[in-house]
Amino acid sequence: MMQGQYIVFDGMDGSGKGTQIEFLQKKFIGTVVFTREPGGTPFAEEIRKIVRDNPLAGKSTPLNNFLLFWAAREELLHNLIVPTRKSGKHVFSDRGDSSTFAYQIYGEANNGLITPFFEMRKLVFEKAGRQPPHLYIVFDLPAEVAHSRVMAAGGSKRNHFDTRKLDYYERVRCGFRNFSAHIQNVVLVNAEGSPEAVHESVLNVLAERGILPK
Ligand code: TMP
Repeated sequence: MMQGQYIVFDGMDGSGKGTQIEFLQKKFIGTVVFTREPGGTPFAEEIRKIVRDNPLAGKSTPLNNFLLFWAAREELLHNLIVPTRKSGKHVFSDRGDSSTFAYQIYGEANNGLITPFFEMRKLVFEKAGRQPPHLYIVFDLPAEVAHSRVMAAGGSKRNHFDTRKLDYYERVRCGFRNFSAHIQNVVLVNAEGSPEAVHESVLNVLAERGILPK
């Protein structure tokens, strides 16, 4: 049986990624398994509560956050991504290691984590039976637009990442763009258009790559 593919959807907070994933969930219901990072399995969801939702994580070191995001990813790969791919289904993940690169390295201005990042990629993605994501679709837009969207959203929806200032968003955007310079299979989708237009672009990318017909 052909293994399913592992596709990551990523982008800054405020990039409209959540809306795009909802469109895809409606369109490909039953044919694709949707998951998210950090999270996607009971244990990884517990790590999510610590690293994403607990304000103490915002006060911890970038290295500690880096390790926690990789820990959640290891858990998700082992328990969901690898078995789903083996069953022949595609996995679409809301975020992936592209976020670690953009947030923990660029957002936190921590270049010292670049080499460990690529070592972690080897360690986690190159274990027997695993592969790194086949494709990353990154929703790209000016940092000011993403930042003002997040600021306009209700305060209760915000996490400690969302409350960062505009310069953080600028660095994160730069991180996603640089990720695409390091890793070959990254497609930047212009996320400034209407949600429907962005959805159309995503479907085109998936069809052109032979992942799913439009
Ligand atoms: P979200 O589920 O609303 O997208 O929130 C996840 C948050 O976690 C988001 O602000 C980005 C952040 N994050 C990282 O900083 N590094 C990572 O590796 C991942 C997966 C997420």
